[in-house]
Amino acid sequence: MDSTKRLTIRLENLQFSALRYRLVVNLEKSLAVDASLVFLESVDSTNLELARLMMTSAKPDLFAVVAAEQTAGRGRLERSWVSEPGTSISLSVLLEPTKNVEQGLVPLFVGSCVARALSTITGKDAGVKWPNDVLIDGKKICGVLSELTDQGVIAGIGINLERQQGAPDTACAVGDFASADFDGALSMVLAELRAGWSDWLSGGNDFALGLIRSTSVTVGVKVRAIMPSGEEVVGTAVSIESDGRLLIEGSETHLVSAADVWHLRN
Ligand code: BTN
Repeated sequence: MDSTKRLTIRLENLQFSALRYRLVVNLEKSLAVDASLVFLESVDSTNLELARLMMTSAKPDLFAVVAAEQTAGRGRLERSWVSEPGTSISLSVLLEPTKNVEQGLVPLFVGSCVARALSTITGKDAGVKWPNDVLIDGKKICGVLSELTDQGVIAGIGINLERQQGAPDTACAVGDFASADFDGALSMVLAELRAGWSDWLSGGNDFALGLIRSTSVTVGVKVRAIMPSGEEVVGTAVSIESDGRLLIEGSETHLVSAADVWHLRN
């Protein structure tokens, strides 16, 4: 990546518009190693870029990479994730759990913070389909891919700003409900993540669990879950456990830690 295309800003400027961030950065014209947010017009994957930057840069408290386009975006379960220029926000944030943080809650928590931000932005109820797809009116508006590294969790967040060509009917975008403002949405999501993470570290796992449960649209719903092994479970999702697993009651009771989940009509 050409470093002249890499713009950096400081997170404390987040209350200002992202347009201004870029202005600030343009004036600086440097790649500050202690920068908190790296903005890229295009990158293969923001998760990969954040991992690369972690090797070379000193890390600030909350370290993020955002891009307007990804050429090799990655989704959950080894899938690809399409981020055409101008239609989405691709954001990766480094979260460094302390020893008291329940790691299994981190990916769910990220989805919950994004859901809160998207509710504010769109004026609609955004909720989280377990484990961490953000839905509005039952349609996916955001996906989260969390990857554990030696230095913490890289939380990769892909938000649909505008409908992409060929997007399935099961997807929606910010532009369906409100102005698809990249800078405004980015600021809101980062502010929710920053505040939520700090509240979690001070308030303990119960705080995170409360937020996760309050934004879940899966609990109480009949679901089909396909495990990575291919095993299929059908039943009612009755709770999210304190370690983040989904409790499904069907012909048997299952505690699920990783799966693709479909909501079924009751
Ligand atoms: C999914 O629903 O499968 C998760 C999609 C996650 C996509 C985001 S976009 C930003 C970050 N960088 C990536 O390569 N993937 C995640």
